[in-house]
Amino acid sequence: MIKISPSVLASDFSALGAESARMEKCGADYLHLDVMDGRFVPNITFGAPVIKSIRSKTDLIFDVHLMIDEPLKYIEDFKKAGADIITFHAESSSPVGETVNKILACGCKAGISIKPNTAAEVVFPYLDKLSMVLVMTVEPGFGGQSFMPETMEKIKTLRREIERRGLDTDIQVDGGINEKTVETAASAGANVFVAGSAVFGAEDASTAIETLRRLAQNAMN
Ligand code: DX5
Ligand code: ZN
Repeated sequence: MIKISPSVLASDFSALGAESARMEKCGADYLHLDVMDGRFVPNITFGAPVIKSIRSKTDLIFDVHLMIDEPLKYIEDFKKAGADIITFHAESSSPVGETVNKILACGCKAGISIKPNTAAEVVFPYLDKLSMVLVMTVEPGFGGQSFMPETMEKIKTLRREIERRGLDTDIQVDGGINEKTVETAASAGANVFVAGSAVFGAEDASTAIETLRRLAQNAMN
């Protein structure tokens, strides 16, 4: 099923609670929360206390994308803050299997993310336990970058493997997703679309979300 997950990285941080509530009204499925630590990526955003502060402002599913060096240490904090799905990077320094197990033990859904130069096969050993695989379509760290079409082959590989195993794992794409790129990602096999600039930068966020959903749906048919 298609899901649209607006990334608050492109929102007005001085009104994060209101921006989150607005996304729910505009028809988003998830709220994408980009946590960056200045170590795993060369940028710093926010952590669990900020996520906790907006938990009461919306019922949207909190889709937390951890771009941090040692995710295992902080899983419980993000669960307590209200995360529903916790996605961490396979390239981080925490042991991948242990981190997945910790997320599941906390009662969250688990996702693994891979950077553009990481092979899809890296997630295969954990696939049966994952709700989602996040294939980055830009180098993580900043919003507003250009979509990398060369990452589409990995999505096809993953989709084939998910189907071969009879799983219903979601494939999320993140970075440069807009009206021009969403169809390419959907036809490769992605079904969860993160969009920062394309939603928050739009004049009308409802229309932007609806358009992304329609284009993705058409490309998948
Ligand atoms: C980048 C983040 C993305 C970012 C996407 O490292 O993971 O979620 O907010 O922003 P856009 O949609 O503007 O490329
Ligand atoms: Zn993200």
